[in-house]
Amino acid sequence: MPSSKHDAIAVFDSGVGGVSVLRELIRLMPQERYLYYGDSANAPYGTRPTQQVRELTLAAAEGLMARGCKALVVACNTATAAAIKDLRARYPEKIIIGIEPALKVAADHFPGGEIGVMATPLTLREEKFDALLHRFTDAVHVHLIPAPGLVELVERGLADSSDADALLAPLLAPYHDKLDAVVLGCTHYPFAAATIARLLGARTALLDGGPGTARQTRRRLQDEGLLLESGPGELIIENSAGSEQTNELCRVLLAQGV
Ligand code: DGL
Repeated sequence: MPSSKHDAIAVFDSGVGGVSVLRELIRLMPQERYLYYGDSANAPYGTRPTQQVRELTLAAAEGLMARGCKALVVACNTATAAAIKDLRARYPEKIIIGIEPALKVAADHFPGGEIGVMATPLTLREEKFDALLHRFTDAVHVHLIPAPGLVELVERGLADSSDADALLAPLLAPYHDKLDAVVLGCTHYPFAAATIARLLGARTALLDGGPGTARQTRRRLQDEGLLLESGPGELIIENSAGSEQTNELCRVLLAQGV
């Protein structure tokens, strides 16, 4: 059945992190209907083998597509790296947007700059990221900063906590006052932005792919005649963890940014 502009936009992440993209989508298109699905039962994705993440992502997408969504926003850099090609091949008639680390934004704003990229191990080792990196190696000097353990803290509602501080302080100390910008290449990380910014020092700008992903989603909907012009907006939050606590954490994180 062809999509209708009244269908929902599905937003998918390995857990609660995609809410940092959802909040940008709602800010830009408050009139739309959203179905947010987080796979917290299987998070983190970033330390799993690529094939597993691909299977988990395709299974989640199948469930969302079966509910008649007009677009799927993969609000997870890791799932995008592992599965975006397969998703587009499987659902050629659907709008499928995948977030990726905002390296282009960094290169545009800080030509010749020192740029950090924080992301999950899977994102950083995938071919997709390698190709992105090669596009900008002449434009900026990139430092890869994997941050194992941070996704787990955000999933536990501890994005802004002494635990996050203890995890990030040794990781970011070598970069204090040395970088022009850091790309937050995992959708969980914007929730720890205050701690990350403090540890990096005032010189370093933080860049997040959420706003660009939201603008791209609106552009695609508009191009396909599927943008809802007006409406009260609607949000359904679901999670594989099946606990009201996880859904509530999503609402709390969403309220921080909208
Ligand atoms: N939020 C996801 C991302 O943007 C990954 C988190 C995870 O490792 O599950 O990469």
